Formats: sequence, C-alpha cells, structure tokens
Amino acid sequence: MFASVALVLVAVLLFLLLFQTHRAKNFPPGPRPIPIFGNLLHLNLKNPIADLEKLAKRYGNVYSLFIGSSPVVVINGLQAVKEALVNKGADFSGRSQNLMLNHAVQVKGMILADYSPGWKEHRRFGLMTLRNFGLGKKSMEQRILGEIHRIINHLDQNVGKTMNPHLLFHKATSNIICQVLFARQFDYDSEIINFFVDYFYETSRILNGPWAMIYDSIPMVRSLPLPFQKAFKMFRMAHKKYSGFLAENKKTRVPGEPRHFIDCYLDELDKRGDDGSSFSEDQLCAFVLELHFGGTDTTANSLLTAFLYLMNYPQIQGMSSFHLLQEIDKVLHGKDQASFEDRHQMPYMQAVIHEIQRVADIAPLSVFHCTTKDTDLMGYSIPRGTVIIPNLSSVLFEEGQWKSPHVFDPENFLNEKQEFVKPEAFMPFSTGQRMCLGEGLARMELFLIVVTLLRKFTFIWPEDAGEPDFTLVYGTTQTPKPYRMTIQRRGTA
Ligand code: HEM
Repeated sequence: MFASVALVLVAVLLFLLLFQTHRAKNFPPGPRPIPIFGNLLHLNLKNPIADLEKLAKRYGNVYSLFIGSSPVVVINGLQAVKEALVNKGADFSGRSQNLMLNHAVQVKGMILADYSPGWKEHRRFGLMTLRNFGLGKKSMEQRILGEIHRIINHLDQNVGKTMNPHLLFHKATSNIICQVLFARQFDYDSEIINFFVDYFYETSRILNGPWAMIYDSIPMVRSLPLPFQKAFKMFRMAHKKYSGFLAENKKTRVPGEPRHFIDCYLDELDKRGDDGSSFSEDQLCAFVLELHFGGTDTTANSLLTAFLYLMNYPQIQGMSSFHLLQEIDKVLHGKDQASFEDRHQMPYMQAVIHEIQRVADIAPLSVFHCTTKDTDLMGYSIPRGTVIIPNLSSVLFEEGQWKSPHVFDPENFLNEKQEFVKPEAFMPFSTGQRMCLGEGLARMELFLIVVTLLRKFTFIWPEDAGEPDFTLVYGTTQTPKPYRMTIQRRGTA
C-alpha cells in the first residue's frame, strides 16, 4: 500500500517537474500558470482581447503568460510597443518558428521568417517591387481602378436591392493582389476565386481560434485528427494552386521583361544564380501565398467595416457637418475617376478612412514577434527566443492617445483647423522593422474604393435589419459580423 502511494506521488512529482512553468528572475509578471495548460484557462480562447486588457490593468503594460509551458510576453500601450518594436527593433523583430501558423505555411516565406539575412533580402525585394509597380505599362493605381469597375458592375446589378457585401470585397481585394502577383483576375463566379475566398476565411478563423491555441500549447495533440487539420489541408491545396500558376507562367515568361511580381522574382533569381542567397522557387511560392493571404482578408475586412459605419453614421455619408460627399464631389468635379493624389485635398475623407481603420482593429495582436537576443524592456529581462505579442488593439484604443478612444469619431484625425493629422498611436499596420509590407497598396485600395463607391452609390442600412452590431469577430484578422446593405445609385454621379 505504502509503495503504491509513494509510486503515485513520485509519478505526480515527475509530471509536475516535466511540465513545470516558472518565471525566471526579473521576467515580466503575470498570472500563475498550471502545468500543461499554462495560462490558457485565464483566456477566453474565442476572443482573448478583453482578458488581455484586464491583465494589463493588473500587471502593467508589459506582462507574461504561459502558452502551455512556453512563456510569452504581451506588450500593451504606445510607449511599450514603441520602445520594443522601434527603439529596440533589432531585438524584437524575430518570429517564432514553432507555432501552428509556421507549420501550416511550411516554415518558408517572409511574413513568418525569422529575423535573418534571408528575411531582409526578401523584405527589401518585396518593398521595392511593390513600390516600382508601375512596371512600364500599368500602374498599381490603374490596376485598382480596373477592379473598381468590376465592383461597380456588380453593385449596379443590385441597385434597389439589399445584398451582403462580404464576398464582393474579398473577391475584389483578392483580384487586385492577384494582378500584382501574376497578372490574373478571376471572374467573381469562378471556382478558383471562390476557393481562395473560402480558404482565407476558414484558415484565418482556425489560426487564431481556440484550436490553434491548443495546437501551440500542447505539442502532443498536433498529429491528432482535430479541427486544426483542416487549415493544414487548405494550405496544402493553396500551395498546389500557386505552384500551378508558377509553372504556367514560366511557359510564357521572357527573362528581363517582367509582367508581374513572379516574373520580377524569377529575374532576380536568374541574376543571383548560385550565390547562396535565400531566393528560390520554393520561397517564391510561399512568398506569393503570404502576399495573397496578407493582402486580401485585411483590406476586405477594412472595407466591410467601412460600409458598416458609413451606413450607420449617415451624417458621415453626407448630411451633416462633415460634408464628405460635398468634399468628394468638389475635388473630383470634371474628373472621370479618383486618383490617390486627390487624398491631399480631402481631409474629411482621410479622417473617416483612418478612423475606420482604427475601429476595424484588423490585426489586434499583430503577427507575433520573437526576441532575437537576451534583452530588456521597461526594466524587465526577456531572454532570446521569447514570443512577443504586440497588442496593437491596446494602442488603437488607448486612453490619453485619442480625443475619443472608445467611440467612432473621425475628429480623432482632425485638428482644430479641420486639417487631417495622424496621431502616433495610429498603428493598424504595426510599427518598426516588421511593419506591414503592403501598407502603401492597402491605403491606396481603401481610398480609391471608398471614394469611388460613395461617389456613385448611396448605401443604406435595411429597414428590417434591426440594430447594427459593431462587435468584431475575432480572428487572425478581425471582421464585422455579416450584414446586408441596400444600394441606390447617386443622382449626381
Ligand atoms: C488594411 C490592410 C492591412 C493591414 C491592417 C495589415 C496589417 C499588418 C500587420 C499588423 C502586420 C504585422 C506587422 C508586425 O509583425 O509587426 C502585417 C505584416 C505584413 N503585411 Fe500587412 N496589412 C494589410 C494589408 C497588407 C497587404 C495589402 C499586403 C500585401 C501586399 C500585406 C503584406 C504584409 C506582409 C508581407 C507582412 C509581413 C512583414 C514582415 O514580416 O516583415 N499586408 N500587416
């Protein structure tokens, strides 16, 4: 009897030792973890944002949690986020290589690459290629305007009716990035565009949902047939599609005469030859997947938020002090279409779009970072390889940084002379060395699409739709709950 009790005690002790979690000296404080689960039970896995906010109130702007037995540091508020991602950018710009997201994307590519010469080369190449994307014949702006015609045709067919815009905006933003990546646009009814939209939606939902947390916390469940396997399957299918595009593209490619991003990359690959650089066709496939993924859901969900607010704050669509429509009509008078340059004459429009991005809070926890060496932050010591969660949401709604942090108010971006100003705490694209690579493209898309659609149509919250619900659905990217809108043609456009 005594022997069996002793055996059970030893087994329990060994178990606790094996899965023990403790904070090293001077590591940021946080709630007490339990073996195996760490602090998972402290968080609402469906949406941890409110819990993270409560923990910041209790432990301060830099605190720690355990995801399983691995410690992570959560950084909140402008001062701490800036200190880490900007002032100590090199220390805080790594990426962990052991999360579900990495495994799903097969640990290649650029968004998820660790802080390394390979990541730097790809980032520089990506930025330069997107920036120079005049590519001779067709500028980025014209590509976006071309897609806007397709959106207008679709809306025209729905004038006088109500429709759910969810798929429309995802298909449009997917097509814009597809044009940049491989000069292809897909019909909104095509099988391929429906696959992509479905894949973005499903994988995004799984990757930041409870099953991903369980995958990251408890390695022993990773090969079990649990719901996260669906994300792996969808990523494999997407990889196959991109490899297909790449193979097809090679048949018609003329080296030195790039038509799109893939051609530019292949030219760069030719130039580098066997110089031991990080460029490869495998990397290209992963890079294309990431740009397509990163460039679709984010912008589409921002547009969905835009029209949700525009319909429910009708004073913004035109009837009040903001005179937004008057501003659009005045600046675009005599012009066929808007250009991105017009934004300089549209302070209200700029303020409205920025406020929409603030409340859209698209990537609330950014993409997780990781420390590249032993470092410190706000007096705490943080060892190399610690996962860092920049809580961008905490900055976008931080008291003291905004005139009205908790309500939708374009005045947050206007000074007393009603000029457009951008507070430092505006960081939906994050900040520092890892800041979003597609910011320029996304801003151009948001401006041109919102301005053009408001110029041509009036969007009305349907009478039978009840009270609008502005609560966001949590995910890798957040999205508003599905809604419908009634479309009318504007008389003046
Ligand atoms: C409104 C739209 C968008 C938002 C709110 C957004 C937001 C973000 C955020 C928060 C990050 C993480 C930055 C960090 O780790 O600190 C990021 C990274 C990234 N985004 Fe975006 N993004 C948007 C659109 C786009 C578009 C259109 C593209 C593609 C052209 C894109 C490509 C990327 C890439 C490649 C990275 C990784 C950068 C790196 O790791 O160095 N994003 N984005």
